[in-house]
Amino acid sequence: MTQLIVALDKDSLEEALPLVDAAGDSVEWYKIGSQLFCKEGPAAVKALKERGKKVFLDLKFHDIPNTVANAVANGVAMGADMINVHACGGEEMMTRAVEAGIKNAPAGTKPLVIAVTVLTSMNEAALQQVLNHDNCTPAQHVTHLAKLAKKSGMNGVVCSAHEIDVIHENCGDDFILVVPGIRPAGAAVGDQKRVMTPREAAAKGADFIVVGRPVLQAENPAEAAKAIQSELTK
Ligand code: C5P
Repeated sequence: MTQLIVALDKDSLEEALPLVDAAGDSVEWYKIGSQLFCKEGPAAVKALKERGKKVFLDLKFHDIPNTVANAVANGVAMGADMINVHACGGEEMMTRAVEAGIKNAPAGTKPLVIAVTVLTSMNEAALQQVLNHDNCTPAQHVTHLAKLAKKSGMNGVVCSAHEIDVIHENCGDDFILVVPGIRPAGAAVGDQKRVMTPREAAAKGADFIVVGRPVLQAENPAEAAKAIQSELTK
C-alpha cells in the first residue's frame, strides 16, 4: 500500500508541530528537509520520534564518499527511518552510504537509504541544460541513475510518478519508490514540473508519496492530509 509522507517544509518546530498533533494517527510519516533542519537541527527529529512518528531525513547528501557515509551514520543514529543521497554522487558514494546506514542503525531498526535521481522540479529542458547535451529525457536519466542506485545496494529512489513504470521494469517491484511532485486535482503546481495526483501515483505503484504545499498551504492542513490519506486507501 502507498504511504503518505507529509513534508514539514516550515521554518520552525513551533510552526510544524501543530499540524503533526492535529493530524494524529492519520499520518505516520513526516519529512524533515533542509529548511526545518537548518533551523532546528536534530531537535526536529527528536520531536517527531517522541510523537511516535517515522522520519524521512531529506538532506540529499552529495559529497565525497567518506563525508556522505559519516553524515548518513549520524542521521540514522539520530533516528531517521529514511535518509537520502544524490545518485549522481556515484556508486562508491552510494555503497558507502548504505553500509553506514546498516552499521549505525539503532538496534532493531532498518533505516531506508534512498537515492535522489532527477529532481521533480526539472523538466527536459532544465535537465539538458545541466547535462550539456540534448539527447536524454528525464525518464531515461532517472532510469540510468535508478539502475546505478540498485547496483550500489540502495533500498530505492526518489522519482516522479511518471517514471514509476520504467523503474519497476528496470529495477524490479521491490525497489522502493518515493514520489514527490504530487498534486491533488486542482491544487497549485508551484515549481514542480513532473506532477501527478495521489490516487494516480498510488495506482502506478508508488511505495511512498511526498506531499508538501498542498497540505501545508491548505486552510486546514490536518484535514488535507487526512483527505489524501483516505484517497490512498480507497
Ligand atoms: O510542496 P511540494 O509538495 O512540492 O513538496 C515536495 C517536497 O519533496 C519538498 O520538500 C521537496 O524538497 C521534496 N522533493 C522533491 N523532489 C525530489 C526530492 C524531494 O520535490 N526529487
